[in-house]
Amino acid sequence: MKPKKQERLYTRREIQRKVKELARAISSDYHGQDLVMIGVLNGAFIFLADLARYLAIPVQLDFVRLASYGSQSTSQGEIRLTKSFELPLSGKHILIVEDIVDTGLTLAFLRKMIEKENPQSIRICALIDKKERREIPLEVDYVGFPIPSGFIVGYGLDFNEQYRSLPALYSLKR
Ligand code: IMP
Ligand code: MG
Repeated sequence: MKPKKQERLYTRREIQRKVKELARAISSDYHGQDLVMIGVLNGAFIFLADLARYLAIPVQLDFVRLASYGSQSTSQGEIRLTKSFELPLSGKHILIVEDIVDTGLTLAFLRKMIEKENPQSIRICALIDKKERREIPLEVDYVGFPIPSGFIVGYGLDFNEQYRSLPALYSLKR
């Protein structure tokens, strides 16, 4: 089911091309290193599934799930880890894989949690970066699509748990 009032931002083909490009950069940067990619559930599940399959290097995969109190569409206040990573991260190169970075609060929190495990490095890969909306400094090392504003759905991203299964990316109109 397509969003009712929507504007298509990126087609399935454009997304796949971009994800391959990211996978190429990641494969070259982490060549010969112990890489653990940590996907942030639920939003990143489709992006991570495609990204991991385009990699030319071995990788270990793990997942976390985070919840924030407040509204559905923006993170506010307290963030909690409701499912933690399970692989040992000490001495590993960590790449956090997220669907979209908005205020930055969620990933700043996750980054701090992972830092406590003494990994060798931590980087962030996000399909979409809404950089203009940042409330806390947070750099995204691998960005698919920089987008200034709007609420994005499809390709794993939801509004009230809808639209995740769409193969393209849409901006929801209100
Ligand atoms: P942040 O903590 O404000 O950076 O928010 C990140 C989380 O909010 C993402 O992981 C998404 O779950 C959700 N989010 C923020 N903007 C959007 C959007 O445009 N579409 C779908 N989810 C979003
Ligand atoms: Mg998310």
